[in-house]
Amino acid sequence: MNTFTRCCALNRTKFHRTVLNRQFQTTTRRLLELTSVRYPNVKRGNYGIVKDSDVSEFERLIPGRVLTDSLEGYNIDWLKTCRGASQVVLRPKSTEEVSAILKYCNERKLAVVPQGGNTGLVGGSVPVFDEIVISTQLMNKIISLDETSGTLVCQAGCVLATVEDYLSNYKLTIPVDLGAKGSCHIGGNVATNAGGIRLLRYGSLHGNVLGLEAVLASGEVVDCLSTLRKDNTGYDLKQLFVGSEGTLGIITAVSLNCPQKPQAVSVAFLGCESFQTVLDIFKESRHQLGEVLSAFEFMDTQSMTVAKDNLRLNSPITDFPFYVLIETSGSIGKHDEEKLNQFLENVMSSGLVQDGTVATEPTKIQNIWSLRERLAEGLLHDGYCYKYDVSLPLPSFYDLVEAMRERLGTMVTRVVGYGHVGDGNLHLNMTSPEYSTEVMAKIEPYLYDWVADKKGSISAEHGLGFKKRDFIYHSKSKSAVVLMKEIKKTFDPNMILNPYKVLPDF
Ligand code: FAD
Ligand code: MLT
Ligand code: ZN
Repeated sequence: MNTFTRCCALNRTKFHRTVLNRQFQTTTRRLLELTSVRYPNVKRGNYGIVKDSDVSEFERLIPGRVLTDSLEGYNIDWLKTCRGASQVVLRPKSTEEVSAILKYCNERKLAVVPQGGNTGLVGGSVPVFDEIVISTQLMNKIISLDETSGTLVCQAGCVLATVEDYLSNYKLTIPVDLGAKGSCHIGGNVATNAGGIRLLRYGSLHGNVLGLEAVLASGEVVDCLSTLRKDNTGYDLKQLFVGSEGTLGIITAVSLNCPQKPQAVSVAFLGCESFQTVLDIFKESRHQLGEVLSAFEFMDTQSMTVAKDNLRLNSPITDFPFYVLIETSGSIGKHDEEKLNQFLENVMSSGLVQDGTVATEPTKIQNIWSLRERLAEGLLHDGYCYKYDVSLPLPSFYDLVEAMRERLGTMVTRVVGYGHVGDGNLHLNMTSPEYSTEVMAKIEPYLYDWVADKKGSISAEHGLGFKKRDFIYHSKSKSAVVLMKEIKKTFDPNMILNPYKVLPDF
């Protein structure tokens, strides 16, 4: 008879902040080939070149907050796959300052790249050539909180984990949570429409962002910073900025709907004999856990090898081809635990699950979550990571991992599949000691064709950024892309905002 190990639970916040920052510092140390060299097909647009007189003007607009030295951390992305050559980083503190900067850049036709925590995974947050980086690092003020309705208004540069800590003082929480929470900014989360591990419970940011303020390329401030739950007056313009990846405007403030912080959290970590079992357990968990189900993640055995070999993290259960992490959260611990225990008993007696562990104590919950949330970091230890983030119908979900494993064979160090299976979102990662054009040619466009054939999405949650923009047609029709280009031209006629990102060349 198999038994579940009862262990303990929550608060990932502090841990992740430390880990991610440390990891970011290490990854930026090695120097990387310039994006313009690695991707020779991309040509610099007809933009102005930053002169000393421009730097002086920026210094006048935001005294003491113009950086021109040691810009490596702003030029290189978190994955260490893209490296720009920006000579200037601007760090405004207010919407008015962002407006003045953009007005000046637009008049001089100077290209800019908005940057939050620089944790984006598609090369969208760093310059491709010499675009000026506009960082929201110093725009980190909480503006207001309405405790009754749970409505938070904050500047775009607030770090996700900091906001979560702040909200927990009021028994509230934030509807988005991801492994980069110690570094990513709310503005970056909204600009990428970040998904993460709470989407299953709270839905996407399209539903949770109540309002936002953004500055257009012209410097005009668009005030859509509503705090209302219901507002059907005219087009819902804020939605255009959610997921626009810095190409339509710079988001300067956000108003968010914040749910009650769950009083009780439990995590179950289960071994599965097949991917079909993962799906069967998911179906059962939806039926039996209902409203307390708050996350459903999966990892394959190759993911667990990454955790063990590259991160020195030990799994509480071993020797299964697949693992699932189920989180429940709610307001009455006893009630949730009873539900979870009943569910576990059922899936064990029906033979779906042979082994697993349950945690209700914060440290142990944290340890289990680390096995899943730190995989992105662990993969980087192999060298180069070819990272893909796709939506697929659940029946073909894992077939793609197997197809890539067969296709790449010994060309790569490993092919790893994990992700937010509860949202139909697969994270497929291949690694090799260093970037290889041969490996890349084997992956793309094959992988995108495969996804399009199954009517999936080539970007479930990370966006298109620089690296995936040319594949937009695999997931969007020609007419939709034409309309997107029209919107871009209306918002940013000189195309200074985050050029070479999201949309293919015009
Ligand atoms: P950045 O990386 O700085 O920027 C991302 C994009 O948004 C860029 O195109 C940039 O130009 C634009 N941008 C940034 N700020 C603004 C602004 N104020 N106005 C306009 N445009 C702006 N993503 C998920 O969706 N789900 C996950 O589970 C997840 N987990 C992750 C785990 C790890 C370890 C890491 C490193 C990343 C993860 N990501 C995940 C990706 C990334 O963290 C998210 O996309 C995040 O939302 C980016 O926020 P950021 O502040 O770092 O933005
Ligand atoms: C995650 O869910 O861990 C992130 O989206 C990062 C990744 O895809 O590795
Ligand atoms: Zn993810």
